[in-house]
Amino acid sequence: MILSSRALEIQASPIRKLMPYAIQAKKNGIKVYHLNIGQPDIETPQVMLDVYHKFNEKVLSYGPSQGLDEYRQGLVHYYSKHNIAINEDEVIVTTAGSEAIVFALSVVCNEGDEVIVPEPFYTNYNGFATMASIKLKPLTTYAETGFALPDSAKIEALITPLTKAILICNPGNPTGTVYTETEIMRIAQIAKEHNLFVISDEVYREFVYDGMKHFSIMHVPDFADHAILVDSVSKRYSACGARIGCIVSKNKELMVAVLKFAQARLCPPTVDQLAANACVYLEDSYIEGIMQEYKKRRDFVFEELQQIPGCICVKPQGAFYIIAKLPIKDAEDFIIWLLKDYNVSNETVMAAPAEGFYATPGLGRNELRIAYILNEEDLKKAMHIFKTGLIEYLRTND
Ligand SMILES: Cc1ncc(COP(=O)(O)O)c(C=O)c1O
Repeated sequence: MILSSRALEIQASPIRKLMPYAIQAKKNGIKVYHLNIGQPDIETPQVMLDVYHKFNEKVLSYGPSQGLDEYRQGLVHYYSKHNIAINEDEVIVTTAGSEAIVFALSVVCNEGDEVIVPEPFYTNYNGFATMASIKLKPLTTYAETGFALPDSAKIEALITPLTKAILICNPGNPTGTVYTETEIMRIAQIAKEHNLFVISDEVYREFVYDGMKHFSIMHVPDFADHAILVDSVSKRYSACGARIGCIVSKNKELMVAVLKFAQARLCPPTVDQLAANACVYLEDSYIEGIMQEYKKRRDFVFEELQQIPGCICVKPQGAFYIIAKLPIKDAEDFIIWLLKDYNVSNETVMAAPAEGFYATPGLGRNELRIAYILNEEDLKKAMHIFKTGLIEYLRTND
């Protein structure tokens, strides 16, 4: 039997593909600190958990394809707190951010169309692009220059008649880059001039450090037809298992099309929307506390990496990831080695090889992504293992 070219092409997630090594290590009695995946250890808000505990309907029924009215109203309130004025018709609830991105790509692109995306980028964009049969055109950014967006001429050079959109992630996974208002306005200007959509993945909106202010694609004036916001509760409320996200746009025609996609998959999870809705009304202090916690972790991991001779990394301004370029040839080999051959008192650490966060072949091979999602104590142990492991790996392998 022959499978589709999509089935043959789709990338195995670099975040998860080394899991068999971690599973084997655990079978061998080794504790693994997971810095490879953006699964925060922060507790999910009690108001959210309470909704699950109190749910006592007799039938778990379908909900509306666009999401429950109650939750869409909640989202209108949530966005108004972020100076994003929308009405209920301008938001459709999705099965997490992942589905929102697939919907966005599917409604703006035909098969074979192109989407420009700054790389390194959230690796699953590769998988989503394969699902939608489109091509990602990478716009390479570099650790050495803080993953800053290249000048407009470089961006425009990537535009072809097949280009339909620019996909940005702000704050960025895996770079931690937060685009300034000027940069977002620059992207919007290019999009307007070339009649492109801008799909803005803002799932880390709240996690912005050092006094920076998040500037959303929805804040761009006179850009209603071009702007598509994709979002998720996964990281915001440490609720990755809820599988609730949304797509927001003021482009009416686009939202009509998104609704048809939404109808085809019937509806997003129902109880989880009620749970997410409870979070909409959380005090601002909830997010403030979490942000401070991540900031502490960021500072710690950054300082630890700074101590490694030859390591190049930029202090992330947002999200909870850091990309580190290491003085090694192959980060994947190093991570496998950590899982198979190295431990400190029966404990080891796992990161994500960064090559899969690039679309340009060969880039990122000596880079890895660390998600600083563990508590201080575990993070200290994990970074100690990481640093001593690197010294040992360089001595014996590279
Ligand atoms: C940048 C970015 N976008 C989207 C997602 C998808 O998240 P979810 O499908 O859990 O909403 C993730 C998950 O890690 C992410 O990092």
